[in-house]
Amino acid sequence: MSENSDFAARRAALRARIDALEGAQGASLSDRKLFFDAVYERAGGDAANVPWADLKPKDRLDAWLADNPGQGRRAIDVACGLGDNAEALAAAGWKTTAFDLSARAIGWALDRFPQSPVDYAIADLAALPPPWAGAFDLVNECYTIQSVPGELRTLFSLAIASLVAPGGSLLIYARTRPDDAPTAGPPWPLSPREAGIFSEMGFRRIAAEHFEQVRPDRVIPHLFAVWQRV
Ligand SMILES: C[S@@+](CC[C@H](N)C(=O)[O-])C[C@H]1O[C@@H](n2cnc3c(N)ncnc32)[C@H](O)[C@@H]1O
Repeated sequence: MSENSDFAARRAALRARIDALEGAQGASLSDRKLFFDAVYERAGGDAANVPWADLKPKDRLDAWLADNPGQGRRAIDVACGLGDNAEALAAAGWKTTAFDLSARAIGWALDRFPQSPVDYAIADLAALPPPWAGAFDLVNECYTIQSVPGELRTLFSLAIASLVAPGGSLLIYARTRPDDAPTAGPPWPLSPREAGIFSEMGFRRIAAEHFEQVRPDRVIPHLFAVWQRV
């Protein structure tokens, strides 16, 4: 078996295991919670079993941070998973909070980064702590909006937007699809309309980079967008 077909076979097996988990395709918030908890639990401490975990920050986030050091300003990483993007924010001088609905994810991040300056918290994007409203000069979102289907995406986008301070920056990293393309998640890639929804929430788009993530078995269209709250 070639290296590429071996990778494809292992990914397909992981995908089949994950699709069989409780709540995998369910459209409600409670289904999504069951699903993510199950992924982290069944991973058994091996990040290879968490399909979105790279164990390093996203390259485009790193590049943006190199040009935009925090100098003590406040940042938050939305649905931080195992914490790599949050750690990159903190390393770039941002006073960083990071949260996830999954207690297992937060526990795992704390185990990985025991000396971390990041303030890790268990919190629900659909019911954010009131003191966080408009409190962050930088909000980083990676792969969370696409992790829910249908109207929940508008709810998540509104909640993410609510965290950004006036004049603050919002980074969105997501898979994309054409407007009329069907989706069969998870994940559910964003259409241009869904990815552009922040323009209806008082934000101006500063940059939008479309790129492809090349996997041995396929190519996945992505968007890294930078928004500013006006
Ligand atoms: C696809 S993962 C991405 C994790 C991380 N942002 C990354 O890029 O590695 C989506 C994350 O969203 C979290 N999540 C799902 N629903 C959430 C909610 N309502 N509030 C907070 N986190 C949530 C999951 O637990 C999971 O860690």
